Amino acid sequence: MTVAHAIEADVLRRQDPQLADILLAELDRQSTTLQLIAAENFTSPAVLAALGSPLANKYAEGYPGARYHGGCELADVAERLAVERAKLLFGAEHANVQSHSGSSAVLAAYAALLRPGDTVLALGLPYGGHLTHGSPANFSGRWFDFVGYGVDAETGLIDYDQVRTLARNHRPKAVVCGSIAYPRHIDYAHFRDIADEVGAYLIADAAHPMGLVAGGAAPSPVPYADVVCATTHKVLRGPRGGMILCGADLAERVDRAVFPFTQGGAQMHTIAAKAVAFGEAATPAFTAYAHQVVANARTLAAGLAAEGLVVTTGGTDTHLITADPAPLGVDGRDARGRLAAAGIVLDCCVLPHGDDRGLRMGTAAVTTQGMGEEEMVWLAALLAGVLRGERESQKAREEVRELTGRFPPYPG
Ligand SMILES: Cc1ncc(COP(=O)(O)O)c(C=O)c1O
Repeated sequence: MTVAHAIEADVLRRQDPQLADILLAELDRQSTTLQLIAAENFTSPAVLAALGSPLANKYAEGYPGARYHGGCELADVAERLAVERAKLLFGAEHANVQSHSGSSAVLAAYAALLRPGDTVLALGLPYGGHLTHGSPANFSGRWFDFVGYGVDAETGLIDYDQVRTLARNHRPKAVVCGSIAYPRHIDYAHFRDIADEVGAYLIADAAHPMGLVAGGAAPSPVPYADVVCATTHKVLRGPRGGMILCGADLAERVDRAVFPFTQGGAQMHTIAAKAVAFGEAATPAFTAYAHQVVANARTLAAGLAAEGLVVTTGGTDTHLITADPAPLGVDGRDARGRLAAAGIVLDCCVLPHGDDRGLRMGTAAVTTQGMGEEEMVWLAALLAGVLRGERESQKAREEVRELTGRFPPYPG
């Protein structure tokens, strides 16, 4: 059954045609425009099926074998399966798969290791740190004393010497590595060394690269970090949600920080969908996918650079690219609008030199659709043509529609 059929055939169409129309229109939007938002992907129909399963009805506070509710026998089996698959996939001693989101996972990691008022060293928000890395608008910035490290203004690369100097000066209780926009591999061993020197915990917020880690296309933080937080969506291609990996020594603290400290009942349908995604990510097909994601991103980055955009760090090691379109005569905000009109959906971002004028994009979704390097070369030229005003947006929109028609995210 295709995704569209599921909505059509379901009682939803008869009972609530208004909402069914919204969902089908969204499916059409996703299928006929190019999804270059770095945090997005297309989950498989199997993951969607688990999300829409009867486990959505089940209350299951607690952990397998120790629930506060009755009737959890099958929920326990599903959660144990998800946990075992996550541990195997990432080589972790312990996995908690209950976090509702990436932010919830980070909150639980802080709750497990820190006390309010503790000092934490993390990538500053202007350089690609996440809200949970010390934004004053977020719990992290209110409850902890964050010190931000940066990236080199010229190269865009993490300045590990600066991280070490800040760690020595501020003696943080935890060092956080991970970003929403850093396109290069993170040197986890280097971070471990810095954290060890000052007696700090190392928390890896690997929300973005964790799918690449699963597919063997990026280095793993698991051997180095005390706690690894991640999302199960993005490149990992599972349902929207979070997870935490750690050693056996911190397992109990992490579990208690998730439930009952920061969350109530586990979302069992999402946990079932996480199990499906971990199973998919353990296949050779996913390994090939993860490597293709990176190959596509590298080709797209090279194409954009050849067209005159300034690609941060000169390229990428991952699925993620940030670039300054200014040499084409347009800033990030205008560029996003023009590209949206052409059916190319991506984000603005802050660039290392501190101006809110960059573009952030990723290749996870288009690679799931089956696109390869040939399509990335074409896409770089189309994107630059639209930004220069050489390609009329309606014409570009038609070309995008033709391309996506050849690579439907949900064939059939
Ligand atoms: C590094 C990092 N941490 C945390 C998050 C938060 O994830 P969520 O949106 O699921 O809360 C993100 C999301 O993009 C992220 O990139």
